[in-house]
Amino acid sequence: MTVDLGARVAGVQLPFCVVNAAGSVHTASELRALVRSESGAVVLPTATVHPFLHRQFRSLHNPGYDKLLPLVRELAAGAGKPVVASIAGAAAEEYGFLAHVFGDAGAALVEANLADEWVEATLAPFEDAAVLRAVLEKLAAATRVPLVVKLPDRPHLPYRRLGDELRAAGIAAVVARNDFHGYEKLLLEGGGGFDIVVAGGISSGYDVRRALAKGARAVQVRSALVAEGPTVFARLAREMRAARAS
Ligand SMILES: Cc1cc2nc3c(=O)[nH]c(=O)nc-3n(C[C@H](O)[C@H](O)[C@H](O)COP(=O)(O)O)c2cc1C
Repeated sequence: MTVDLGARVAGVQLPFCVVNAAGSVHTASELRALVRSESGAVVLPTATVHPFLHRQFRSLHNPGYDKLLPLVRELAAGAGKPVVASIAGAAAEEYGFLAHVFGDAGAALVEANLADEWVEATLAPFEDAAVLRAVLEKLAAATRVPLVVKLPDRPHLPYRRLGDELRAAGIAAVVARNDFHGYEKLLLEGGGGFDIVVAGGISSGYDVRRALAKGARAVQVRSALVAEGPTVFARLAREMRAARAS
């Protein structure tokens, strides 16, 4: 009997519940290789409005959103799996603009990266609930594509309050750090109403199974993908089947 390892996140069907994390692959050929892999989606590197190059914030290096748009159109038309845009900015308006253009280009989901250190240092959306609300409202008004919010490891806002803001804006899913403070406290205190995807330290099919058993809809991987390349998804699928059998 074949086991269905697919997942539904924010109303979007993924053929496999494991996907790459934003920032794990960067070039067009690496992204096309993800299409051929078993990854459940193609998650793009985080894009900003302008080209971003800063010694202190290397994880956000990118050539600017407009360089990615042709690839989004290509993959959305032919990948056979959802394309997820990841966006970041220093102002609520930038998030709104990027959600709009990536949605128009064919992204199935838009992931607002509120986890990056540069975002914390500039916009600081978790220092003040009013700033977070402004970002979420701009996102929600900008596109009809389902929205995902990537949370920092330790958001400086009580999870109950955070959950209220996410629900009020209609955010369909969050990406949380796969540990007690990031994920399990969100499950315990966040109040539900959105899907949870976890990222962090997933290296085996057993890790995936444990995350799903607690309540995650899907998981993201970066380190294991960087170390092994795109065949990691097939390995994780095999191990998930073995984990289920045992
Ligand atoms: C060098 C590096 C670059 C990253 N770039 C991004 C990024 O562009 N966007 C993003 O949302 N997360 C980024 N991340 C975070 C990863 O997506 C992921 O959340 C994190 O690495 C945890 O997963 P792992 O334990 O499987 O590596 C980056 C992480 C690292 C180490």
